[in-house]
Amino acid sequence: MRATGVADRASSIYEPVGVSSRYRRPPSGVDPDATKKWTRRIWPLLRAHRIAFFGAIALSFVSLIFQVQVPYLLNQAIDKSLQHHTVPLHYYVTLVIILAVGGLITGFLARWLLFRTAYDFEFDLRNLIYEHLTAMSFSFYDRVQSGQLISRANSDIRSVQMYSTFAPLILVQCAIGVIAFIFMLSISVPLALIAMAVMPLLFWTGVRMRKVMFPISWVIQSRMADVATIVDENINGVRVVKSFAQERREINQLADASDSLSWAYIQDADLRARFTPIIQNLPQLGLVLVLLFGGAMVINGHLGVGAILAFNAYLLMLQAPFMMLGMLVMLGQRAAASADRIFEVLDERPDIVERPGAVDLENVDGRIRFEDVTFHYGENPPILEHLNLEVEPGETVAVVGRTGSGKSTLARLLLRFYDVDAGRIAIDGHDVRDLTLPSLRAQVGVVLDEPFLFSTTIGENIAYGRPGAARDEIIAAATAANAHGFITNLPDGYDTVVGERGYTLSGGQRQRIAIARTLLVNPPILVLDDATSAIDVHVEAEIHQALEHLLEGRTTVIIAHRLSTISLADRVVLLDDGAITATGTHVELLETCPAYAEVLAHVADLPSEAL
Ligand SMILES: Nc1ncnc2c1ncn2[C@@H]1O[C@H](COP(=O)(O)OP(=O)(O)OP(=O)(O)O)[C@@H](O)[C@H]1O
Ligand SMILES: [Mg+2]
Repeated sequence: MRATGVADRASSIYEPVGVSSRYRRPPSGVDPDATKKWTRRIWPLLRAHRIAFFGAIALSFVSLIFQVQVPYLLNQAIDKSLQHHTVPLHYYVTLVIILAVGGLITGFLARWLLFRTAYDFEFDLRNLIYEHLTAMSFSFYDRVQSGQLISRANSDIRSVQMYSTFAPLILVQCAIGVIAFIFMLSISVPLALIAMAVMPLLFWTGVRMRKVMFPISWVIQSRMADVATIVDENINGVRVVKSFAQERREINQLADASDSLSWAYIQDADLRARFTPIIQNLPQLGLVLVLLFGGAMVINGHLGVGAILAFNAYLLMLQAPFMMLGMLVMLGQRAAASADRIFEVLDERPDIVERPGAVDLENVDGRIRFEDVTFHYGENPPILEHLNLEVEPGETVAVVGRTGSGKSTLARLLLRFYDVDAGRIAIDGHDVRDLTLPSLRAQVGVVLDEPFLFSTTIGENIAYGRPGAARDEIIAAATAANAHGFITNLPDGYDTVVGERGYTLSGGQRQRIAIARTLLVNPPILVLDDATSAIDVHVEAEIHQALEHLLEGRTTVIIAHRLSTISLADRVVLLDDGAITATGTHVELLETCPAYAEVLAHVADLPSEAL
């Protein structure tokens, strides 16, 4: 999306100067005990910033202490300097200036420290969640919606941050309210009591307002998420929407959702319009009482004129904490709900974890064994049952099977995206569950059936697995994947930025970049999952020439639909009904295994070509 001119200019002004790309890990995790209250669980994260945090609270207390004395001094100045001339006026003027300067400095420091703490805390919480998400296994991502996760990473973090850092500050302000009340008492006990008479009413109105507004604020949140989901799906699925000419339907769907959202907003505005003027004008009632009773006391000579002025100032000062107290409860409820959602994610444990004492997979020969493997996704019926397969070092094996038979699943299990339910998978005799995950995934290179590219340059996409790779290595990998030709024809060559998910490239071009990306890592074991399905036969033949050379000495599993791809293999295995039901060369299987010929007739192009 294009930024507007103003945003462009703003972002060039506010370009951070000292951004380091070094990642600062969160100083601590959250409390793992799920039975504790969320504030206790999140505390270790906030604790890391305790000096700034408590510093901010202490300083804002000091700053308010400065402020709370000003009306009191005003009262004295009017009485003693203006009416009775017992103290020179400049004495009070100087004092008020000192208090103002003190309040200014401490107020500045308090705010600075508090916002720092708030954003540091938010930064840590976001990193913690992101780090946790990175550790989660595929089974987690099969279940959750990405839109939900993104919302958790944004609005939920913000509302937890707001409450955790600002709630203590609001409490400090309320404590100052108590001090202001003491000052009022010291001026005149009866007038203080009269002036405060409206405060319970103010508080009660605040609580009522929160009670009726809280449900509607939830409705707004969830409807906003609905609108966001529709927009998100529409943008991501724009190619499907347009190809079925369903724009009108999608627009109507969005209109419905945003209609419900604006209804909720109007309800909210309506309630606000009713309550806010009451809350704003109630203190005036207090002032009326002060004027009425205080005025009578002044006329009777029981009270100085300055007291009326001081009381007025105190009433204004007290108004904010009483209103904020209501807001605090609302913020608290919202933050608790957000924290619940955040902990729902943080309390998920990844199912694929390294065993203690896991070893690195090194000096790979490349022998792969699937021993009596049984596997099912979640609660579904088994995809693989008692499957046995052995691949010799350096061998190239093609896996053939009907669509949905579990071929890609074999690849996912070998890379330990999921764990087998029974049996084991071994590389060079090591159970994959005994190996460290980075070493396993570095030694087993895979070209997945859905080539995903990042929205960055082609060169960076190819170098994804080895970010430091030199340009000539990238070019060599691209050449082997038969991608160099089309890349150099692009306007910026290797520096061409591909659109989101690589949509500016054709399917076959994406696949070739994905192949180059895996070849650059040069893994001793290679898994190609339908890697050339979108590439035409002519180009595929050229890739095969290059691959034949690259596959030498490398154990390779090719998941293939095409005869031309199958012909690269030393041996073909047939996956049927969750197990390997036949193995041999292509010609042998055609002769001896009717099921193989049948599968090929269904899945392969031009079956006659090889017959
Ligand atoms: N993440 C998942 N959760 C649940 N079921 C899944 C998941 N992935 C795949 N399946 C199911 O497992 C079965 C095997 O899927 P797999 O992707 O391994 O098939 P395949 O042989 O690679 O098919 P194709 O030739 O179409 O690529 C399918 O029936 C599919 O519906
Ligand atoms: Mg597949």
